[in-house]
Amino acid sequence: MQLGERGFFLAGMERHEGEVIEIRSPFDQSVIGTVRQADRTHALDAVTRLHGASAAVRALPAWRRKEILEHVAHAIREKREQLTAIIVAEAGKPVKAARGEVDRAIFTFTIAAEEAVRQGGEVLPLDLMPGNEGRWGMVRRFPSGPVLAITPFNFPLNLVAHKLAPAIAAGCPVLLKPAPQTPFSSLALAELIYAAGWPADALSVLPLSVEDTGFLVQDEDRLKVLSFTGSARVGWELKQKAGKKRVLLELGGNAAAIVHSDWGDIAGAAQACVTGAMSYAGQSCISVQRVYVERAIFHRFVEAAVKHAEALVVGDPAEEKTDIGPVIRPSDADRIQSWLREAEDAGATVLTGGTCAGSLIPPTLLTGTRSPMKVLDEEVFAPVMAIERYDDFDAALAEVNRSRYGLQAGLFTRDAGRIFEAYQTLEVGGLIVGVAPTWRLDPMPYGGVRDSGLGREGLRYAIEEMTELRLLVMALDKMP
Ligand code: SIN
Repeated sequence: MQLGERGFFLAGMERHEGEVIEIRSPFDQSVIGTVRQADRTHALDAVTRLHGASAAVRALPAWRRKEILEHVAHAIREKREQLTAIIVAEAGKPVKAARGEVDRAIFTFTIAAEEAVRQGGEVLPLDLMPGNEGRWGMVRRFPSGPVLAITPFNFPLNLVAHKLAPAIAAGCPVLLKPAPQTPFSSLALAELIYAAGWPADALSVLPLSVEDTGFLVQDEDRLKVLSFTGSARVGWELKQKAGKKRVLLELGGNAAAIVHSDWGDIAGAAQACVTGAMSYAGQSCISVQRVYVERAIFHRFVEAAVKHAEALVVGDPAEEKTDIGPVIRPSDADRIQSWLREAEDAGATVLTGGTCAGSLIPPTLLTGTRSPMKVLDEEVFAPVMAIERYDDFDAALAEVNRSRYGLQAGLFTRDAGRIFEAYQTLEVGGLIVGVAPTWRLDPMPYGGVRDSGLGREGLRYAIEEMTELRLLVMALDKMP
């Protein structure tokens, strides 16, 4: 599908100036359209306008912010098929999954609309020591100011929604820098947001070079929040440059699941893990990468996992039957292939898959992996999952924790004692019991510890990251 020639949005105006950037289909590398890359002058203009719009959007009443967010949700629903087609074309995401992403974006804006009118505060008794009689306080949140949002390629609509919707709900202007591979979804979304009545100066969408993005991150005074989703390496580097800004980082992971023998449905757990590993070719920060299975059920689990993996359809993301499309760039396919070879050379066994055809990587299951294999220790971002056995539950917990990441983990057991032990022990942002750790419902707190990030998304939690508490103290005892 051709996505045409697009500019960038500077304060509501689509500008067709600056360098022309060709965007290629991850599936066949054909050019699917062009966008313009903004430069530093555009970025500075956008920041000035954002700064100028701060007071106006801060003053928007809650009902109006809710109304704008509801309009956006409605407009996304009306454009469901067009947005799906854009995601398929630019991200190479299979059409079934792309449709699911659009539905999630509708949900994300709908929940943000609800949260916009739910931002209460707290009344504090302050007459807590002698001499403070008659004193009380209240505390509520105020918008922090302009947000710099940087988004990845893997959910080009919904992860953009996770930055823009809470910013609108909170009353913060936003400058969005979308992923270089997938700018079209965010440009389409920006149009819907302007049309819904969000002030033009309070949103710019600028494809920018790495240098110009770094320059913005260093803007000390006017950009108050940096919200970044992407790789751990880039995220932590940006934090170093961000100065006094509040920083929210949603970074990578090598998510693990534990499958204990008391789980009644071993084939169901295997299917859940394989689906969680292979969806969108494993290009999610919570894709299942490591599974630890109790020895007694290991062979049954492997058999079911291989059967399910081999039933998945690999191919053209535009076809309804496709389960797994391409990885985002040919260079990623090369990297994945070399990581698989490294693992095999070091003694890992390929249970199924393993041989890539261009950017299409078949669902690949491995066993016999061990550190320091990259397929185990690094974020593979590919349809690749290692299955290993354990004898002792505590040792399995230790294996899950033996990672520099900590985003989400999965657990299949019916034993409440083991569930709470895992909840206490695992160093992750979320423990998911009964389904794969790839599960995410958009309102829930989402984020990680260790190298996986800082802060939480999920509408209510992201609004907290974009607002500051302010206290009012009433010393009624001193009122003349
Ligand atoms: C991510 O890759 O971090 C996002 C996963 C999701 O939203 O499902």
